[in-house]
Amino acid sequence: MTTLTFAHVTDVHISETGDSWGSMGLEAPRILRECFARLNTMDDLDFVLITGDVVDQARPGEVDLFLEALATLEKPWHFVPGNHDGFIYESNRTAMLPAEVVAAIDPRLAELNPDANLAYWSRPVARGVQLIGLDSRIATDWGGTISANQLDWLGSELNAHTDALVILAVHHPLHDLGIHNEREWWNKFIANNGATVERLLDQHPNVKMVISGHHHANHMRVRQGRLTMITAALTGYPCVYRMVRLELTEDGWYAHVETHTAADDDTLANAREAMMSSKTAYDFDTRGPAAWVGFCVGMPRDLSFDGLLGGDDHLHESQ
Ligand SMILES: [Fe+2]
Ligand SMILES: [Fe+2]
Repeated sequence: MTTLTFAHVTDVHISETGDSWGSMGLEAPRILRECFARLNTMDDLDFVLITGDVVDQARPGEVDLFLEALATLEKPWHFVPGNHDGFIYESNRTAMLPAEVVAAIDPRLAELNPDANLAYWSRPVARGVQLIGLDSRIATDWGGTISANQLDWLGSELNAHTDALVILAVHHPLHDLGIHNEREWWNKFIANNGATVERLLDQHPNVKMVISGHHHANHMRVRQGRLTMITAALTGYPCVYRMVRLELTEDGWYAHVETHTAADDDTLANAREAMMSSKTAYDFDTRGPAAWVGFCVGMPRDLSFDGLLGGDDHLHESQ
């Protein structure tokens, strides 16, 4: 029986200043190392998927801190970049360029594409399982898109792997997580052409999972038997990583997903406080910042999944 077990870690936001999107940027290296130490003890863990925003302002020191933590991970890993992994703030002249950050973190991606700023890739990760990583960054903005060239490439890559289970990793989610994503600014949490990508995926029922970060919220949805898993920030409340186990059964691919907190109680309390006082939390809902905290934690259906991929939809289309 073919099985595949992997962890999903996203949005570490290592910061040298502590100003990191309502997350725990100064403590991020410690939280990440503790998470990796836990993952190192799992004998059956096949790989760790890291979906971007590993640093906050792309300063060389932040990248070094991430690389030092990454060096402690004793498992294979895969990486797709987020908007903070090279995003150049006008006020921050010490940031590394996007291509420099990508090359420093994952030399496999350094010269993959004609445009060195783009880092998309496709790899077999088990017999009959193909992992595809997209680069959803926009050079001058924190929103996301999948470039036309990348979409063409994705189409041909999916055509080349019609017999495989395909898992797609992309930093920006492809669909709205709620009606707030229709509002200005909040729409940048979603790839601006995510619907186009989803329509392409609909034509390939062997694409069974799409995995994202960026929104700093836990969310799961099934569309046409395809499980979308968006994971909250490792270093922002509730400081989680996910564990995914896939099993090829007589009926097809069965998925088991669990959500785990990576932080100790004190860190978790501080992370909640940081999130409660963030501008994002106040902007989210007129009811106050607790609504944002609740949204990021997610409902029970956003935290675990047990079911056959490609089978009946277990979750509703909306929220
Ligand atoms: Fe992020
Ligand atoms: Fe992001």
